[in-house]
Amino acid sequence: MPKVKIAPSILSCDFARMGEEIEAIIAAGADWVHIDVMDGHFVPNITMGPPIIAKLRSRCSVPMDVHLMISDPERYVEDFINAGSDIVTFHIEAIHHPHRLLARIKELGCQAGVVLNPGTPEDELGFVADMVDLVLVMSVNPGFGGQAFIPDMLRKIKNLRAMLGDRDLEVDGGVDANTAPEIIAAGANVLVAGSYVFRSDSYFEAIESL
Ligand code: DX5
Ligand code: ZN
Repeated sequence: MPKVKIAPSILSCDFARMGEEIEAIIAAGADWVHIDVMDGHFVPNITMGPPIIAKLRSRCSVPMDVHLMISDPERYVEDFINAGSDIVTFHIEAIHHPHRLLARIKELGCQAGVVLNPGTPEDELGFVADMVDLVLVMSVNPGFGGQAFIPDMLRKIKNLRAMLGDRDLEVDGGVDANTAPEIIAAGANVLVAGSYVFRSDSYFEAIESL
């Protein structure tokens, strides 16, 4: 399995101090910075768009992992890449032509991944399974931080590890020091953690414990 990486989600950071928060998690050992983009349509919450990501880019010395929870990602993906994304993931439930969008993201020089909601089986990847650089398994229903990990997702993670070889397999939602060991044992190697990291007294200790 590839090396375990920690990707704190800035959804739970102090939004008035985003740049500093990003620098602090990187100093504490974050491998990637996970950025949750929500449009109030695909998910019932609204966060940030390309102009904010472009501003944060200069504060972020590790890969920016941009998780698009938006309807019609094809329409906006180029703006997110121009803003400085290194990794772009989109929901398979939000799109009719995942093959075309994956090709486009890769053509534009980014790593490309597909996200699966809790209710979506890994088989939905179909013929794009060979094209993806990574897969992101949602282990909560997307839209909000601070929800409980859905244990049934461990089975999906196991199945996906068998499909992906040594490509990255990322898990997002309800990750903390209690759930991380079984998530890693099931085969995931990129852990997204929002509330667990940002609500802790020490970002370093929180990241270490994962
Ligand atoms: C949820 C987001 C997550 C969120 C995870 O829709 O995709 O990245 O920040 O939050 P926690 O780690 O608090 O479950
Ligand atoms: Zn996310």
